[in-house]
Amino acid sequence: MSAAELAIAEKELEKHGFLDIEVDPSLDLVEEINKLKKERNAIILAHYYQESEIQDIADYVGDSLQLSQMAANTEADMIVFAGVHFMAETAKMLSPSKKVLLPDLKAGCSLADSCPAPLFKKWKEKYPDHVVVSYVNCTAELKTLTDICCTSSNARHVIDSIPKDKGIIFAPDKNLGAYLQKVTGREMVLWNGACMVHEIFSAEKITKLQVRHPDAKFIAHPECEAHILDKADFIGSTSGLLKFTQTDPSMKFIVATEAGILHQMELKSPNKEFIPAPPNNTCACNDCPHMKRNTMEKLYLAMKYEQPEIHLEDWVIEKGRVCIDRMLEISEKAGLNTSNKVK
Ligand code: 13P
Ligand code: SF4
Repeated sequence: MSAAELAIAEKELEKHGFLDIEVDPSLDLVEEINKLKKERNAIILAHYYQESEIQDIADYVGDSLQLSQMAANTEADMIVFAGVHFMAETAKMLSPSKKVLLPDLKAGCSLADSCPAPLFKKWKEKYPDHVVVSYVNCTAELKTLTDICCTSSNARHVIDSIPKDKGIIFAPDKNLGAYLQKVTGREMVLWNGACMVHEIFSAEKITKLQVRHPDAKFIAHPECEAHILDKADFIGSTSGLLKFTQTDPSMKFIVATEAGILHQMELKSPNKEFIPAPPNNTCACNDCPHMKRNTMEKLYLAMKYEQPEIHLEDWVIEKGRVCIDRMLEISEKAGLNTSNKVK
């Protein structure tokens, strides 16, 4: 990149958190992104909540655990994270020598925002003997205050790995925490955070849908509230839900999680029907506004200009990655290895 181009990129990033440079509408973005991928020796990791076209061009599509395993093991020089900020930070902690790009730095997360590290630090002083388990959906700074990280697909294994006589603090998701208390029988002190997308579902509207589709199974992500989970035939992480729809004989599913996952469900089971669970407001979507900040244009610009890049201080990487490494070890022992290779 020339010095002039770099200056433009830096200014744009300061202003918007992403590169707001006009992209020639006649460009074939798929072709251009694939070309840049080769030139930069880059991989694109995409979460299941991304737009379908981003999932289709990604090298790997997966849930939070699978993507962090990919980030830890890749031999690429550049990781382009089509996801949200905490995911790209996790990738940077696991592969500090690699360039990690997030197409839009403002792709945040309501859960991560709900738990500022300085407040949490003060709060946890009340429980000095407790083990701190944090959902991976938290800031890098919070990870430096955490003993073991978890994702929705390994949370149960992580809790089960903690000696029975130890108290547990769980942050930041109170819904996942409450669900874990129920399935593991462990008492936990819960931080009062929640995901804005998974708290939006309407139990009443889901019941009406179930009446209209009595042959449909209702499946939900554990970030949903307890009264929604109580209605579910199956509860699981995004990869768990996807797998369930492939293996369960039902032909119809009502799905309570971010709507992006429906793309992979439809690709993997083209003969089955998937109905997104309705939200409790009049807005027709249960899209995560943070995840959906990424677009094909931003992905292309990020790879072209190699910006916006994730930077973390060395002490944050060193201290924060300990809890992620513990999580990965527990996952490996439990046989939760990545099997989501798309290409
Ligand atoms: P998983 O990827 O663990 O299913 O979590 C969903 C989520 O909310 C990611 O932001
Ligand atoms: Fe955060 Fe919820 Fe969006 Fe996931 S879906 S990134 S938890 S706000």
